[in-house]
Amino acid sequence: MYRVGIITASDKGSKGERVDESGPKIKEIVSSFGYEVVYYKVLPDDKDMISSEMKQLCDENVVDLILTTGGTGFSKRDNTPEATLEIAEKLVPGISEAIRSYSMQFTPKAMLSRGVSVIRKETLIINMPGSPKAVKESMECIMPALNHGIDILK
Ligand code: MTE
Repeated sequence: MYRVGIITASDKGSKGERVDESGPKIKEIVSSFGYEVVYYKVLPDDKDMISSEMKQLCDENVVDLILTTGGTGFSKRDNTPEATLEIAEKLVPGISEAIRSYSMQFTPKAMLSRGVSVIRKETLIINMPGSPKAVKESMECIMPALNHGIDILK
């Protein structure tokens, strides 16, 4: 069974000023595919906090897959792609290209997500946009290829 870590990047969510609906949406979808969620956290949009949390999950081999939601847009506090690139060992552009391309059928704003996908050690990390709708649409596209992607990481 694949172990999944979920990180929601949200200043408001981390302060309890907004209920996170996107993290639970990720959990619902991966669980329906038989994945096990072993880690879930709502973090502020702070580059160093996000990257150090992800680094630990990878380096201590806690999870096979990290799915992030939020912080991929253009605002000053959108730092998730930069946090992800900071700890990347390899880039996996095809996953993020596929997410954006697939998502364009739902909204032209899909091109505004700067999300990246990378590998660190034996963990695959994929950034997704912040809304539950965007999470659902993004995951529709990536789930069919994920098992194989994780398998060939080992
Ligand atoms: N992708 C999908 N599939 N569905 C969406 O509704 N919203 C877009 C884009 N990608 C969207 C999407 C919008 S409006 C923005 S601003 C960017 O993702 C960045 O979102 P984020 O800042 O919440 O990460």
